[in-house]
Amino acid sequence: MTGQEMVALSKQHSLYEWSAQAHVDPIPVAKAKGVYFWTPEGKRFIDFNSQLMCVNIGHGDPRVIKAIQDQAATLAYANPFMATEARARLGQKLAQICPGDIDVFFFTNGGAEATENAIRLARLATGRHKILARYRSYHGGTGAALTATGDPRRWAMEPGMPGIVHVPHPHHGLQRGTDTGAEALAQLEEIVMLEGPQTIAAFILEPVTGTNGIHVPPDGYLEGVRALCDKHGILMIADEVMSGFGRTGAWFAVDHWKVVPDILTMAKGLTSAYVALGAVGVRRKIADVFKDKVYYGGLTYNSHPLGCAAALATIAVYEEDQLIDRARKMGVVLKQMHADLKAKHPSVGDTRSIGLFGMIELVRNRKTMEPMAPFNGSSPEMQALGKFFREEGLYTFVRWNGFFTNPPLTITEAEMAEAFAIIDKGLAITDKAVS
Ligand SMILES: Cc1ncc(COP(=O)(O)O)c(C=O)c1O
Repeated sequence: MTGQEMVALSKQHSLYEWSAQAHVDPIPVAKAKGVYFWTPEGKRFIDFNSQLMCVNIGHGDPRVIKAIQDQAATLAYANPFMATEARARLGQKLAQICPGDIDVFFFTNGGAEATENAIRLARLATGRHKILARYRSYHGGTGAALTATGDPRRWAMEPGMPGIVHVPHPHHGLQRGTDTGAEALAQLEEIVMLEGPQTIAAFILEPVTGTNGIHVPPDGYLEGVRALCDKHGILMIADEVMSGFGRTGAWFAVDHWKVVPDILTMAKGLTSAYVALGAVGVRRKIADVFKDKVYYGGLTYNSHPLGCAAALATIAVYEEDQLIDRARKMGVVLKQMHADLKAKHPSVGDTRSIGLFGMIELVRNRKTMEPMAPFNGSSPEMQALGKFFREEGLYTFVRWNGFFTNPPLTITEAEMAEAFAIIDKGLAITDKAVS
């Protein structure tokens, strides 16, 4: 099939997400390998967003492909009431790499279902109904997950599920800046008091914020959240769907602060998206609640053998190739390249990164920090920049006034330099708009 045919038929017979259909302009993808993917006509793109921040081990790893093929040939499916070797081994393996005593898992098809089940587990385990969630967050596109989401993707499905209370994120945009850990915690504590701590089942947060801007928490914040939750019997849910599996240079983002959440959600990097799989991990004390109490939750594809086999093989790749370590080391290179761009281009307002999880925000003026595009909007300059990246064969997510730098953890320095050379050229477009 030609690229044109792929695009035409895909648009004719399928809905694209989060989009007005007349405006979508998909890239036709025929194959992928390492940090690259190709159109049917052979145009090559460097994948500087690991697709949707998920193909952490890079495309086409033969070890994971073989594991999926072997599992499909042996046992493609068994229902969730069965026990399988892939399920057994994956639970055991995740218990080794997850923080603290998180060692019991409920497997899902992806991140949103992990959020749904995390919220349900927290409510059933505590007998409380409220869930605190932050603005500037994304937790998935389904009912409770989208209600918990604190960005404009939530608006169209409001009012959503009752009982979810949003609290401010420590970051307030480039012009207002970021609270200190102490300030953010004081505000959170006030809201907990006003809502009634005994009514709050859990606080869900992305330890390092993903699509809403790669925000690393201020000093003391995550530790303070842990202490506040402990004080009031509130469960801490870390949404590591995007930040997990090496993205930040640790297995999980919370590991940087040695904080052990009560519940941890994961997906994306768990299988590097080779097969759809998500999971909710819980600490022993929560799992024990469900020894005699029914866990009311289920999915036909819970613990799908193909997903579990893919996850096991993916985790083996992180270990064999020392990709977590590599992400941390290459993260230093990424940070330096960010800094070089900032020194050279007046339109670069801010750069943020941890490991290979990065973002560049563009401004019209560094004194006023007026963003190059408004909140939840775009601008001719940002559109021109996105078009330039596409023409030059750089794929990344351009969102509002910023864009992401989230390559596969396997990226080499030469590949990184190739991507940054395109970014460097492209920023001439936005520099022209600086006053
Ligand atoms: C932090 C976070 N949580 C949950 C989700 C939802 O995951 P999925 O799209 O697999 O349902 C995402 C997806 O981007 C995410 O970034």
